[in-house]
Amino acid sequence: MNEQLQLVTTSQQMQQVVAQLRSQQQRIGLVPTMGALHAGHLSLVEAASQLCDCVIVTIFVNPTQFAPNEDLEKYPRMLEEDLDQLRALNVDLVFAPDEEEIYPDELTATVEPPAIAQPWEGVHRPHHFAGVVTVVDRLFRIIPADVAFFGQKDYQQAMVIQQLVRDTDIPIDVQVCPIVRDQDGLALSSRNCYLDTPQRKQATAISACLAWAQDMVEQGEYSTRILVDSIRQQLQEEGIHQVDYVAIVDPKTLAELSYIEGPSMLLMAAHVGDVRLIDNCCLTP
Ligand code: PAJ
Repeated sequence: MNEQLQLVTTSQQMQQVVAQLRSQQQRIGLVPTMGALHAGHLSLVEAASQLCDCVIVTIFVNPTQFAPNEDLEKYPRMLEEDLDQLRALNVDLVFAPDEEEIYPDELTATVEPPAIAQPWEGVHRPHHFAGVVTVVDRLFRIIPADVAFFGQKDYQQAMVIQQLVRDTDIPIDVQVCPIVRDQDGLALSSRNCYLDTPQRKQATAISACLAWAQDMVEQGEYSTRILVDSIRQQLQEEGIHQVDYVAIVDPKTLAELSYIEGPSMLLMAAHVGDVRLIDNCCLTP
């Protein structure tokens, strides 16, 4: 238990603390989050603790990545509980800025996301990745860490951030950590708390479809059309009617594939009640 956890709320103070850590040759690991921490977030913290001397977690519900019709207002906020979880993992520093710290005024420039942000999530949440790259770029500049940790849960987001770092020469190594799931297979998400009991059961169809596809590929089914059509049908049968996309894509370019010839990503987004869920897995022939 780290009773010494330091909570920093201003960019200026954060920059000073980081400069001091850097002067002491500390290897800094950064875990950006929007809080409401669960075991998925904590797995990133654990990965950071293993690779770095000092772990900094950011907690900021970033308004620019939510569309007006999305859940910004009701997004769970529980700073005290989050801090307790991070103390238990011996986290050194938490940066939890106010909105004005990150977006001082309406003149704050938006960072243009790379082309890889356009398909899939980009189609269904057109302004989402502009908000994500703007805030992550900002966080990377306030906290010039050695390594930043992101989850495979948001696979396209992780690819967008890796491209951002390449395009802008930000000297941060972006690590992507595996998806943490609940016992029933559902990928952990801060939004799972919105699901009622029947919806929660319905939602397990999503990860069940991923597991099914992995089995089919192991048995030699390499046609992506057959796999995708069947997944859509299975979701329908489970009462999941609003499916934003199911696609099997190249892991680097996110371009849709016709056949599985090497490691490929199966990406899905679907609505269960009012809750939009995303999940993915790697399919390897
Ligand atoms: P948030 O949804 O809070 O997620 C923070 C990080 O935790 C992301 O890198 C996400 O991929 C990872 N994560 C979430 N659920 C996970 C799971 N079940 N297993 C493993 N990792 C998981 O993603 C964001 O916040 C924001 O877009 C952010 C990058 C902080 C920018 O605002």
